[in-house]
Amino acid sequence: MKLGVSQSYLSMEWPLVKFLLWALLLFVQIHERIACIEDERMGLLELKAFLKSKTNRTEPLLPTWINDTKSECCSWEQVRCNTTTGHVIKLTLSNINQEQNYEDTWYINMSLFQPFKELRNLDLSNNRIAGWLGNEGM
Ligand SMILES: *[C@@H]1O[C@H](CO)[C@@H](O)[C@H](O)[C@H]1NC(C)=O
Ligand SMILES: *[C@@H]1O[C@H](CO)[C@@H](O)[C@H](O)[C@H]1NC(C)=O
Ligand SMILES: *[C@@H]1O[C@H](CO)[C@@H](O)[C@H](O)[C@H]1NC(C)=O
Ligand SMILES: *[C@@H]1O[C@H](CO)[C@@H](O)[C@H](O)[C@H]1NC(C)=O
Repeated sequence: MKLGVSQSYLSMEWPLVKFLLWALLLFVQIHERIACIEDERMGLLELKAFLKSKTNRTEPLLPTWINDTKSECCSWEQVRCNTTTGHVIKLTLSNINQEQNYEDTWYINMSLFQPFKELRNLDLSNNRIAGWLGNEGM
């Protein structure tokens, strides 16, 4: 009798357990798919700090790029990720240095882009970049 009760209890609970497991799996999958890569998030923040040090603009630079682990870096402005892998594939960083004096040119260190394993498309036009430092990576 006791066994019978616990069995019917179990059979009533089982669909709920299955549903919860399914929901958890779905959540993990969705979460995994959109999550940006931590190394690339840190890389973007370092890149922002570097660009900020070089630019003379008065309005905030890349305000959505914030150092918060809950912030989804694939949805930051000017960043495009591969929706399957979550890797950054495109960075559009043109025209960030427009206000600088015409003579002021600057160099960009290649190693800043090393965290981005799948970067295919990088736009740094109209920034008066005179060249690259180092040639590791590309
Ligand atoms: C981001 O925040 C973490 C913890 O607050 C800190 O250790 C790290 O140096 C910060 N990174 C940048 C690029 O600001
Ligand atoms: C910003 O612009 C001023 C004058 O336009 C210039 O003297 C200064 O060196 C610039 N600063 C940077 C960080 O480019
Ligand atoms: C995303 O990554 C997958 C796996 O590497 C690749 O097959 C796909 O072509 C990539 N998509 C884009 C838009 O780059
Ligand atoms: C580029 O940056 C890396 C890491 O910050 C540094 O070790 C390297 O010396 C830099 N290269 C040049 C040419 O400045």
